[in-house]
Amino acid sequence: MARTTITTQVAIMGAGPAGLMLSHLLAKQGIESVVVEIRSRQQIHETVRAGILEHGTVNLLVDSGVSDRVLREGDRHDGIELRFNGESHRINFKELVGESVWLYPQTDVFADLAARREADGGDVRYSVTDTTVHDLEGKPKVWFSDAEGHDVEVEADFIVGADGSRSRCRFQVPEANRKWYFHEYPFAWFGILAEAPRSADELIYANSDNGFALISQRTETVQRMYFQCDPHENVAEWDDERIWSEFRRRVNGNGFELKEGPVLEKMVLPFRSFVHTPMRHGNLFLAGDAAHTVPPTGAKGLNLAIHDVKVLFEGLDSFYSSGSTATLDSYSDRALDRVWKAQHFSYWMTSMLHTVPGADDFDRARQLGELHSVVGSEHGKAYLAESYTGWPTSR
Ligand code: DHB
Repeated sequence: MARTTITTQVAIMGAGPAGLMLSHLLAKQGIESVVVEIRSRQQIHETVRAGILEHGTVNLLVDSGVSDRVLREGDRHDGIELRFNGESHRINFKELVGESVWLYPQTDVFADLAARREADGGDVRYSVTDTTVHDLEGKPKVWFSDAEGHDVEVEADFIVGADGSRSRCRFQVPEANRKWYFHEYPFAWFGILAEAPRSADELIYANSDNGFALISQRTETVQRMYFQCDPHENVAEWDDERIWSEFRRRVNGNGFELKEGPVLEKMVLPFRSFVHTPMRHGNLFLAGDAAHTVPPTGAKGLNLAIHDVKVLFEGLDSFYSSGSTATLDSYSDRALDRVWKAQHFSYWMTSMLHTVPGADDFDRARQLGELHSVVGSEHGKAYLAESYTGWPTSR
């Protein structure tokens, strides 16, 4: 069967939050795009991811007209707790830097974006197969088979690889034209969703002699929590009692007790740092997880992806309105400026809060010294608060 050709301005690979947000911002300026996604809408919706949005992410969702549901149904958090040596220390974001974050799971961000694109008549093709990209240094093309099995070619001015951490677009960049940065960590996170009331109103990042744990929330009746584990941990070997006793060992004490309940889901989350530079090759632009991965401590992944597309949108908008490529040409540098800040912040939070296997008494005492030097200093706390709530967009 012959391939049907569609012509558009921007072809976007991936209908996760980055791809859909870019397509939405472009549509508002009258710039056409086609979004191509190998997963079904349902599959993306069911992906359990982190739940913290920086104020800049929230503002973009609300101000660009995606939805204000985050303000109605999300929870504003004005701080977090760092817990170590059995004591809690509050980092008051509002007081320190005048900002907050919102607890609003990524699955809801996706649902809002997908609904908005649908309502606005956006061209989003879910459940496609056999995607390939061509002519990245000239007039780029995407080939795929749509959900009905028809072969389609999308011809565009630009291709955006927003196709996630297993990005195929990334592999189209010749080795001589890119540098990859990797960092492995000697642990992972064991994540659960549990049916239980909230144990706290804000997130608790707990450092303990028995390793790290994070107490987060989802709803009145469902909670999200994590504990540091071995990267090869097998979730099947963990029943509810074993899971809760691990949390107790790391968080309970001095009058604080976690509220427990049936574990609804359990998973091991990979833990690594990765950056692909530059985030552009010819007319291909990479955005979000396709270009970088951060460890989950601090929940920067989605926020970085949204920042990437905000900056990329500015470049594309400027190109289509003025013909100038200057803003587009600065995309990679501007995006990477924040990516490396977030890499550092996620690495720092990770190393400050986790226990490295084989750590000795010196390592442990030094780590407690580091934690005390942060919570004992207005400057230390302000650095954490500024990074956690999100830096201003770089120029
Ligand atoms: C969540 C995940 C994180 O990685 C984090 O730092 C904070 C919250 C979450 O899933 O709620």
